[in-house]
Amino acid sequence: MTKLSRRKFLTYVGTGVAAITVASSGITPLTGQAVASTKTTKKSNTKGKGLDFKAIEPSDKDELLLPKGYQYDVVAAYGDTINKQGDTFGFNNDLTVYFPIKDSSDHGLLWVNHEYSSDVFVTGPKNGDTYSKEQIEKILYVQGGSIIEVKKEKGKWKMMTDSKYARRITGLTPISLTGPAAGTHAVSGAKKVQGTFANCSGGKTLWNTVLTCEENFERTCEDASLNETHYGWVVEIDPFDSNFTVRKHTALGRFHHENTAMGLSKDNRVVVYMGDDVKDACVYKFISNGKYNEKDGTKNAKLLEDGTLYAANFAKGTWLPLTMESFEEKVNEMKEEGKLTEEDQALINKITSLADILVHTHEVAIFLGATPTDRPEDVEIHPKDQTIYIAHTNNSDHGNIHGHITKIIEKEDDLGSPTFDFEIFAAGGRQSGFSAPDNLTFDDDGNLWTVTDISSSKLNKDAFQAFKNNGVFVIPTSGKDGGVAFQFASAPVEAELTGPFFTPNEKTLFLSVQHPGEETEDKNKPTSMWPHRKGDTIPRPAVVAITGFKGGK
Ligand code: FEO
Ligand code: CA
Ligand code: CA
Ligand code: CA
Repeated sequence: MTKLSRRKFLTYVGTGVAAITVASSGITPLTGQAVASTKTTKKSNTKGKGLDFKAIEPSDKDELLLPKGYQYDVVAAYGDTINKQGDTFGFNNDLTVYFPIKDSSDHGLLWVNHEYSSDVFVTGPKNGDTYSKEQIEKILYVQGGSIIEVKKEKGKWKMMTDSKYARRITGLTPISLTGPAAGTHAVSGAKKVQGTFANCSGGKTLWNTVLTCEENFERTCEDASLNETHYGWVVEIDPFDSNFTVRKHTALGRFHHENTAMGLSKDNRVVVYMGDDVKDACVYKFISNGKYNEKDGTKNAKLLEDGTLYAANFAKGTWLPLTMESFEEKVNEMKEEGKLTEEDQALINKITSLADILVHTHEVAIFLGATPTDRPEDVEIHPKDQTIYIAHTNNSDHGNIHGHITKIIEKEDDLGSPTFDFEIFAAGGRQSGFSAPDNLTFDDDGNLWTVTDISSSKLNKDAFQAFKNNGVFVIPTSGKDGGVAFQFASAPVEAELTGPFFTPNEKTLFLSVQHPGEETEDKNKPTSMWPHRKGDTIPRPAVVAITGFKGGK
């Protein structure tokens, strides 16, 4: 059979001067590559700062590929020493957050999440059903997060291992609980818990601290015999201040937290949007009772201890408060209507206080009528119009194989609003060129950057063949290319690109390369060797700094 090929020439110029050319031969073959669509919107393009690249083709190479003119430096890889004390960089890096030192975009601290361990590359296999004490310590140590100091010198980014700030937060670090569930029966009376792990994504607060999110915590809880109610929270850390108590904010609920996106309501309360990365899970927002005051600095962290958690009902366009009052009201309503099931009754028996609601967030949200959605992962607030973008990664249970990006429009553009409307901003699939959108970030022009998370076992096969390896895509949110995806990066074999984060001048993009060679079964025959360090014998998850952006402030 003649391989029909659609010759592509895709160029994205964010200045609006020139745009995209697609020389199309018509039909895309079933075995062909995914292509960007030519969909346009009516709104005019925003003024760009010179994002300018020729979109790359999907690739299955064991390389981190970027458009011509862009390059990357490996800043830190698994096992690298990060400070004088000899602490080492954890495994499977995810979220990155850059904190400028003296307002610099060339020198700062980088927070990096570490999501999970690996039997093949980190601990070695279990002995029968159990890990040894040493293996468990290692599993806990390689998760959590790293604070590293990074600097650009002579055009190259590197880690400063003589840093006075560099340290690790791990599955062994003592962490305080704050908010309504702290010290209650719902968490077995704990005010302090052991460590953080399963740190997926997160976000930056308005007061310059990091929020790191605990996602799939169950496996490590089981391996290390830890209380599950102590995990699945949002954790706050001040990278500059080791005296700032590391804390888990129970007011933000306990679920499979993907990330946080923080903004302000029109009356200056702190609003935090959050995704729950599970099939048929809900989208949440927390609104603080107190108001944000910039002058209070990190004392604003108190705002995350007291407020209301809401879950989205998409059919009605309402944010449902997860409170005892609304719970009791719903119970009474269901009782009157004779609708309570055995399952409902089991939940009712568990819920006696707000602390219980927060520990069992998902079950309560569903009971109250929140909408189960298709794996809501990253949530971000558009910098220009305060609309909310949610990556709904996929949900094979009901045929959403490639996922979509949902956009929430809060009533009167107020993040504090109790009602909203929504639309689908972009859909994964061959027509758009991407599948399984995961982490999101905006640049200052309002272009949406998304990474993809096709699971390692499915890459380059079946319905995912066309997309080849995971990647980074840029999707303008307005103008004639609004909603069109341009591929900016292609990941090494079996890796996922995660945690994209720009420096303030947008001349550097930090990015995590997570789990290269994940399907490796024999350590001596790794399926990837990225980052291809001389003399190395295994692939290593690593954080890179991408440069080559022409514009910038
Ligand atoms: Fe850890 Fe939701 O990906
Ligand atoms: Ca993720
Ligand atoms: Ca993000
Ligand atoms: Ca993911």
